[in-house]
Amino acid sequence: MSTDVIRFVTACRVCGSERWQKVISFGNVPLANGFLEVADSYAHEQAYPLEVISCRECRLLSLTAVVDPHVLYRTYSYVTSDSETMARHMRTVVRLCREQAGLAEDDLVVELGSNTGDQLLAFRETGARVLGVDPARNLAKIAEDRGVPTVSEYFDSTTARAVAAEHGRASLILGRHVFAHIDDVVDVLAGVHALLAEDGLFTIEVPYAVDLLDRLAFDTIYHEHLSYFLISTLDTLFARHGLRTVHVERLTVHGGSVLVSAGRAEGPWRTHERVRELIEHERCGGYLSDGMYEDFAARVRKTCDGLSRLVRDLVADGHRVAGYGASAKGTTLLNICGLGRDELEFCTDTTPQKQGRVTPGTHIPVLAPGDVRQPPDYYLLLAWNYAEEIMRKESAFLDAGGGFIVPVPEPTVHTRAVTTL
Ligand code: TMP
Ligand code: ZN
Repeated sequence: MSTDVIRFVTACRVCGSERWQKVISFGNVPLANGFLEVADSYAHEQAYPLEVISCRECRLLSLTAVVDPHVLYRTYSYVTSDSETMARHMRTVVRLCREQAGLAEDDLVVELGSNTGDQLLAFRETGARVLGVDPARNLAKIAEDRGVPTVSEYFDSTTARAVAAEHGRASLILGRHVFAHIDDVVDVLAGVHALLAEDGLFTIEVPYAVDLLDRLAFDTIYHEHLSYFLISTLDTLFARHGLRTVHVERLTVHGGSVLVSAGRAEGPWRTHERVRELIEHERCGGYLSDGMYEDFAARVRKTCDGLSRLVRDLVADGHRVAGYGASAKGTTLLNICGLGRDELEFCTDTTPQKQGRVTPGTHIPVLAPGDVRQPPDYYLLLAWNYAEEIMRKESAFLDAGGGFIVPVPEPTVHTRAVTTL
């Protein structure tokens, strides 16, 4: 492990407390999107501690180790999925944001972590002026080529001031699945203050900690995801920085997420009833107490053991197993459940950047779907967040007697004939 690129968390990034509860440690795990070229020397592959703690004051769930963002994001292999599910979701985000922020023609929409520009293209169709901010130069270039102006920088207070000076104030600042990746959230909120119009909204989409805990989506824990938020935690954070939580919508993407909007505390906004309801649910449901996190750790260990056993037994019985979707969460799942090349022949994935490479840590070859000569008997569904779409698309595989192993919340086998635990 190279320690010069990691920082260990001491004070909570939301409330400053140092009173942490240890939740679970997965040991050293490689980076979730660190797919390797076959020719790379695997001996030099780095792995970093993957360990979760919970703040006893504000109940932020955080990783202990923060990997230097330059290592993670300057060249980034994660491209927003071009699946039907994601395209539909992006249209939903446009509708919700337009309803909430009351966007008018020509209003400025700035997206942080804009990736290859898909979400902003959907906004532009509605007449908005759009601007992306993304540090990954390889992705910003693709976005620019598609006509989405993109500043290839981290969104911080410096970038935000420069954007405001050049383009004016934004009616909507959007961050989809990026806020949970940010260590210095306080500086980002300073940037929001510099760039947001008086009556603008700052809207983020983050995995919802309640869904992580309820659905046991523990494989969504990887080094890029520094924070796992409750609404109460976000509300604390916003209030400390002059913002008011205004709306929240629960969404199904990435195993359960929330779209949360905040406006300036002195702005024209009223807090929607659902914000208070969810905060109340978190309090009454035990999400603010140690017991919830002890129970989570025990359930994770049980699911991991069950999955390892299930896959190993299938292989021992002569069945062929492969991975479906070399997702980032698949890296966590395979590494912590100890599933590698002895169990999975290959992983299939539609992302060109991953094809021809091998999975981080486990070194399983990633194949384009068209390169799979002989489908396996079972696919371990590493992209379980797209289960419905994938099973629909793979109906011929199911018709031919194939099965999908869905890993969480408990390992389940889906075949045309039966669904078994
Ligand atoms: P994501 O949930 O992080 O977007 O990762 C999903 C991965 O699964 C991504 O690498 C693309 C891949 N995938 C397929 O290979 N086939 C599919 O049909 C879908 C929906 C995703
Ligand atoms: Zn805290």
